[in-house]
Amino acid sequence: MKKVLIAPSILSANFANLEKDISMIEQAGADWLHIDVMDGHFVPNITIGPVVVKSIKKTTKIFFDVHLMITNPEKYWESFYKAGADLIVFHNEILYDKKHLIDEVKKTGIKVGVSIKPKTSVNAVKEILPFVDVVLIMTVEPGFGGQSFMYDMVDKIKDLRKIIDDKKYNCLIEIDGGINDETAKICVDFGADVLVSGSYIFSAQNPQQVLKGLKNI
Ligand code: DX5
Ligand code: ZN
Repeated sequence: MKKVLIAPSILSANFANLEKDISMIEQAGADWLHIDVMDGHFVPNITIGPVVVKSIKKTTKIFFDVHLMITNPEKYWESFYKAGADLIVFHNEILYDKKHLIDEVKKTGIKVGVSIKPKTSVNAVKEILPFVDVVLIMTVEPGFGGQSFMYDMVDKIKDLRKIIDDKKYNCLIEIDGGINDETAKICVDFGADVLVSGSYIFSAQNPQQVLKGLKNI
């Protein structure tokens, strides 16, 4: 069975006690911690900045997957790197030179990824695929946790899997939005490597059990 990585999103965690929730998911075997950064401009919501990332970094050893839903990642990614990001994911829809941004992040030695919103095609990232470690496919409109999975996005997973396998690129496919046990299975069947899950894990009666279930999809 293929090993899938699970990245719980702290957007649905208890912000009054992040340390406790992070330790809880770490103990249950979470692979990455997904950190949703929103600027109120790229998406209609505001979440956290580097100060919070730096504070929680001191409490855990888990891999920090920082999803920048912001208009100007070129201005802020370095602050998140310094705060402890292990992976910086920016959005393909930004206007800045993406290859340059990738090169800058890579110089630090951490991983870099690109994300596509539901209306952006896989074709849009074709040219930068050889240079990124991760492509994050959004399966909801970015901005909020707890939305329903957009089933028509699964063809993108299949198409991207084929390109990556054909060209032998060293790039993981991460899926973000509306992941539960049913949608997780679909994503894995279509070729996903990493699953982000927020509300499904953190609103569960027993989050650790739910997380372990996702790992064994
Ligand atoms: C949405 C965020 C997601 C979100 C996922 O814009 O990028 O990471 O936290 O939450 P769920 O799993 O509840 O859809
Ligand atoms: Zn996210």
